[in-house]
Amino acid sequence: MTTSKTYTVNFPVPAHIAMIMDGNGRWARERGLERAAGHVEGVNTVRRVTEAASQLGIKYLTLYAFSTENWNRPREEVNILMHLIVTAIERETPDLIKNNVRLSVIGDYSRVPADTMTRLNQCVADTAHCTGLNLILAISYSSRWEIVEASRRLAVLAVEGKITPESIDADILEKQLATTGIPDPDILIRTGGDMRVSNFLLWQIAYTELFVTQTYWPDFDGDQLVDIIKQFNTRQRRFGLTGEQAEALNNTSSRPSS
Ligand code: IPE
Ligand code: IPE
Ligand code: MG
Repeated sequence: MTTSKTYTVNFPVPAHIAMIMDGNGRWARERGLERAAGHVEGVNTVRRVTEAASQLGIKYLTLYAFSTENWNRPREEVNILMHLIVTAIERETPDLIKNNVRLSVIGDYSRVPADTMTRLNQCVADTAHCTGLNLILAISYSSRWEIVEASRRLAVLAVEGKITPESIDADILEKQLATTGIPDPDILIRTGGDMRVSNFLLWQIAYTELFVTQTYWPDFDGDQLVDIIKQFNTRQRRFGLTGEQAEALNNTSSRPSS
C-alpha cells in the first residue's frame, strides 16, 4: 500500500463502511479494453481505499469482491477474478501487516477452489494479530446464501435441543450470520451508478445509509470516500423514530431496539 496521499479528517468517521465495487467491466469497455483490464485496475482501487479507510480510523471495511451469482459469468472471467483476488491479497499481505490491517473473508467457501481457499486462509492467519482496520472481503458471498445457512444452523440447534423455536429472535439469528460480531454498516457505497444491492448484506443494511456513485470502481478514490463520509455526517438517522426523538437519542448516542 504505497500512495502519496495521507488522509486525516477533523470530523467523526463511522465504524463500518461496506462497498459494492461495481463498474470494472464498463470502465474497461469504455476504453476499448477487455473486461479483465478493469478488474486489474480495480485492484489498485482496493489498495487506495483500504489505505484511506485505515488512515481515517475506520474500524471495519467490507468489500464485495465476488458474489454467488458471479459464478455464472464466463469461466474465463471467473478464473481471472479468482486469480486476481488471491494474488493481490498475497502481494498486499506484508503491507496489510505493516498498516495493522486485519483481513477476514466471508462467503460460501465450498464453491471456492481449494488451493485459492488455502492461500486466502494463510493471509487471514498472517494478519490475525493486527488491531487496526478490519478488512472483510466478501468472496463467493450472497446474502440469501448467508441467511439460508443461518437458518439451517438454527434448525440443527433446535433438533439437537439446544434452542427452542420460540427462543429464536433477531439476536440469535444474527449470531449465525457470517458477519456476527461485526457492527452493521453505517454506510453502503455502490460505485457504477446502479441503484440496487445485488444480494449484499441484506440483513445487515436494514438501517444503513446508502450512497451510489456514478464513478466506476477503478476511478473511485479516498477523496470520494471522504466526501461521502462528510455527506453521511449531515444525514439524520432516525431508526423509525420521529426527527425529534432521533435528535434526543443522538445526544445520548444509544439506539432503539426492534
Ligand atoms: C465489478 O465490476 C466486479 C465484480 C462484480 C466481480 P463488474 O465486472 O460487475 O463491472 P460491470 O458492472 O460489468 O461494469
Ligand atoms: C455486484 O456487482 C457484485 C460485486 C460487486 C462483487 P454485479 O455486477 O455482480 O451486480 P449486478 O449483476 O449488476 O446486479
Ligand atoms: Mg457489475
